Amino acid sequence: MNVAIVGVGNISRTHMEAWKHIPEATVVAVCDIRQEMIDRAVDITGARGYLDFTQMLDNEDIDILDICLPTYLHADFAVQAMERGIHVLTEKPLSLYKKDVARTYEVAQRKNVRFMTAQVLRFWHEYELLREAYQSGQYGPLISATMTRLGSTPRSSWDNWMIDEQRSGLTPFDLHIHDLDFLVYTFGEPKDMQVNRARGAKRDDIHVVYHYDGFFVSCQATWHNAVFRFRSGYRFQFEKAVME
Ligand SMILES: NC(=O)c1ccc[n+]([C@@H]2O[C@H](COP(=O)([O-])OP(=O)(O)OC[C@H]3O[C@@H](n4cnc5c(N)ncnc54)[C@H](O)[C@@H]3O)[C@@H](O)[C@H]2O)c1
Repeated sequence: MNVAIVGVGNISRTHMEAWKHIPEATVVAVCDIRQEMIDRAVDITGARGYLDFTQMLDNEDIDILDICLPTYLHADFAVQAMERGIHVLTEKPLSLYKKDVARTYEVAQRKNVRFMTAQVLRFWHEYELLREAYQSGQYGPLISATMTRLGSTPRSSWDNWMIDEQRSGLTPFDLHIHDLDFLVYTFGEPKDMQVNRARGAKRDDIHVVYHYDGFFVSCQATWHNAVFRFRSGYRFQFEKAVME
């Protein structure tokens, strides 16, 4: 399968390394609007580099497009590729808007191509174990839980798009969405929720408590205005065991 990557900034590095572990896939083309990022990506992958996305689609025979662009561009680029019959993997979140979700899935179905948003927690072993423990009931019923996702306010995104609410959605869409995706995937829609948020010029702190039948989950997602090593984790209290 021929893979192309568009947006070869920070997180694309992880994608480029990951594709190397899939023998059936070859990264044949990379695209960015910054030549220095293209040069770095070409060094890592050996692929051909493009400054223009449409030119890349026209010139290359692409099976899968991997989108590592800023959040506000995901849906438009996904739709453009799927209209040409290309399968798409996009970084999270797909969009800040429901209407983009609807139009993206409409094109995927109409063109009969695969589309996936990289909500990765579902596939991490620690979270698979948690889901299994809940579903099997091996530790008794779930009572309460905390999930955390903490880091510094991002300073190295292209054009500082990550600290622009219109383009990134800030901590709810950039960080908390990972934990929320896992909760909905594992427990379904919560019955109720309470939200507290403390925002400042260079910080954003959201705490959400989700209520389910018989248990609640308290989530925190924070960008600190400080040098703060990124960390994430969970603690789930079952009747007979605590998982963390
Ligand atoms: N799954 C995760 O844990 C995780 C972690 C970090 C980031 N992300 C997501 O990945 C995405 C990218 O984040 P990032 O940190 O790599 O951002 P970044 O700013 O470092 O990289 C984005 C790249 O896109 C390029 N770009 C911008 N406009 C373009 C265009 N029109 N055409 C081609 N290239 C263009 C920029 O030059 C830049 O190199 C975001 O949606 C973010 O939410 C996910």
